[in-house]
Amino acid sequence: MSRGEMSGRCVVWVGRPSVEEHFGLLRAGWRTLVADPASQNEALPECGDAAIAVVDLRASALAAVRILHALRENYPGIAWIGLTGSRTPAHEPLVRQALPQALEIIDGASSFTALRQALQRAPGDAPAPIENRPSILTGDSPAIRMLSQNIRKFAPVELPLLITGETGTGKEMAARALHQLSPRHEQPFAAINCGALPANLVQSELFGHERGSFTGATARRIGHFESADGGTVFLDEIGDLPLDAQTNLLRVLQEGTIERIGSCQSIKVDVRVLAATHVDLEKAVSQGRFREDLFYRLNVLRLRMPPLRERNGDIELLAQYFLDAFRESYGTRARAFSTTARKAMNAFAWPGNVRELMNRVQRAAVIADDALITPEDLELSADLPGTDRDSLGSARTSAEREAIVDCLRASAFNISECARRLRVSRVTVYRLCKKHQLALDQLR
Ligand SMILES: Nc1ncnc2c1ncn2[C@@H]1O[C@H](COP(=O)(O)OP(=O)(O)OP(=O)(O)O)[C@@H](O)[C@H]1O
Ligand SMILES: [Mg+2]
Repeated sequence: MSRGEMSGRCVVWVGRPSVEEHFGLLRAGWRTLVADPASQNEALPECGDAAIAVVDLRASALAAVRILHALRENYPGIAWIGLTGSRTPAHEPLVRQALPQALEIIDGASSFTALRQALQRAPGDAPAPIENRPSILTGDSPAIRMLSQNIRKFAPVELPLLITGETGTGKEMAARALHQLSPRHEQPFAAINCGALPANLVQSELFGHERGSFTGATARRIGHFESADGGTVFLDEIGDLPLDAQTNLLRVLQEGTIERIGSCQSIKVDVRVLAATHVDLEKAVSQGRFREDLFYRLNVLRLRMPPLRERNGDIELLAQYFLDAFRESYGTRARAFSTTARKAMNAFAWPGNVRELMNRVQRAAVIADDALITPEDLELSADLPGTDRDSLGSARTSAEREAIVDCLRASAFNISECARRLRVSRVTVYRLCKKHQLALDQLR
């Protein structure tokens, strides 16, 4: 990320935030970059001018202060908040000199709320709300990074987009994120579930009708396409759209016009169409249930939402995220997951994907008796009969490999560029290449 690309404020965390801290910040609207004192060779994050540092003096205080100095050479004005703990060597000269320059010093043992409030008090603009940022797609796996990258790329392009993926993978969430990042973000976003509309009302819902155009049409009705003029229409379960409505949708895409039922007057509408499906549309086309010409019109840009089981590393991260979010509203006892619960979650196939994970975590948070959620609380078996761990593992590995190769190709095999796109360090890119036995020389 370059300085110029920076938008909104971010936190540079000098040290290692816990998962709770990381997601606490994310939820409060802060993008977090980590400058880890343990990674000697990693470059400092390029955080731009709108950043504030949180210097974690609870563990490696001296190394953290050294990093702070380096950071301030690059960003002389950067404000910082110190997080201290019982092991902070407050009398050590380096630390003693640094402390008075901090904006605030917070006792790291106190609640996370204290830090969040200090960040809120820090001078500068408030961070962007979470729904305005690409990191809305919580996750850190290569598959989700590639997806976020594509969302950012597709957002400003005025072309239709098809989002595919299993149930609960976040198709609607991706569509909303894309709208938020697009130039249309101040205009309406209309989400319509085509599968939930009664067949005889689909046309009227989408395109509107004139008074008296059919029995029961007692007044003129404006359809979703017309009322979302200037904005985005998200057609969920597009595979369920009846054939006659498909014809009218094709007209919107080709000519940018609609006709209300009972009227032969064409009305210009300016909408961007995003569509989602969990069924195989190619198959629906071959079976004559979906218009081929409409399929090609919609399938210009494509986002594939990875199933949760292929999102290496994201299961625990999302589980903690949902637990933290739940705890914020309901002060439950459960704070984290036991080792066996984490194992069980990682080995489970998650047919309902992120939605299922969220539901299980919320239910577990309510019933858990302890601070640590168990596999039983999650209604997952610790030994998981019927789950093929090997095939799950290899599905994840191959998704990760695919994401890295895609990104390397897109970056013309430039490691720095690939690292920038994936928002990981160059060292991580090299590590992943090694892990997947990718010979860069041969790929190039
Ligand atoms: N990355 C994420 N971070 C946080 N919450 C998520 C994420 N992805 C999905 N969710 C949550 O999971 C649920 C399912 O997401 P969404 O409705 O977008 O999925 P979908 O693919 O449209 O599902 P369906 O196929 O059933 O319509 C929602 O409650 C959403 O808020
Ligand atoms: Mg949906």
